Amino acid sequence: MRDSELLAETEGELGEARPPLTTLVRLERVEKEFPGPDGKAVQALAPIDLEIARREQVALAGPSGSGKSTLLNILAGIILPSRGRVWVNGVAVDSLSESARDRFRGRSIGYVYQNFNLLSGFTALENVLLAMGFSRAGQKGHFQRAGELLERVGLGHRLRHRPAQLSSGEQQRVAIARALANQPPLLLADEPTASLDFWTGRMILELLLEVSYQAGATLVVASHDRDLLTRFGRVVEVGQLQQGSRKVLTNSVLSG
Ligand SMILES: Nc1ncnc2c1ncn2[C@@H]1O[C@H](COP(=O)(O)OP(=O)(O)OP(=O)(O)O)[C@@H](O)[C@H]1O
Ligand SMILES: [Mg+2]
Repeated sequence: MRDSELLAETEGELGEARPPLTTLVRLERVEKEFPGPDGKAVQALAPIDLEIARREQVALAGPSGSGKSTLLNILAGIILPSRGRVWVNGVAVDSLSESARDRFRGRSIGYVYQNFNLLSGFTALENVLLAMGFSRAGQKGHFQRAGELLERVGLGHRLRHRPAQLSSGEQQRVAIARALANQPPLLLADEPTASLDFWTGRMILELLLEVSYQAGATLVVASHDRDLLTRFGRVVEVGQLQQGSRKVLTNSVLSG
């Protein structure tokens, strides 16, 4: 399916409301509940309104359990919101079928997970190559581009190493190269420094800021690492609303 078809799939009732091109992400009263063990709904993400511009670098802050990962998963189309509208790159993600969301994710989202999520049986190069399955570019260019991406994150000398043969910081570099594989407009990172020692974490953060800037991608990082947050011009506090209330709070922007 082409991007134009993906867009067309979400048009109709939504056509008029599509955000302007300068906006990459728009959330309107998005909230998420999960069924709890006793059958009662558990609020995972309090209602949130949020707009993120193309190329912006934004941190999502908030204590453990405030819904940061939930919000990233909604942006990636991995889970659907219980209520509200989600637009990413002109696509109304919440109205897509599961298979269309898979295609949307393959094309529009690069996701760096806290624990890297690399495929253990494959080399660094293969991990990046395998992520290119969804892209329209021919197989031919993939090999070269995967190598270039690994060079860009400083791993040109580790192409044939498997994850177990790499340090934690190197594995996170592979994960970043993999997230960039399809030139996504939106790069998401969930606690990208949490599994790393302090200085490796700082290096990975600087790398994320740099590669997303160079690639012209929007970067959204979830973290409760206060030190990391100081590197972002904009920090959005997630989950400030008391449970049960339907009122939408304006997200507090700490700076920028
Ligand atoms: N699949 C699920 N089923 C039920 N409850 C869930 C589910 N996923 C998340 N939750 C609940 O939603 C809340 C938000 O979870 P989430 O993982 O988004 O928080 P977080 O801000 O990322 O926390 P942390 O900083 O610890 O990573 C938590 O209270 C959690 O228990
Ligand atoms: Mg989390």
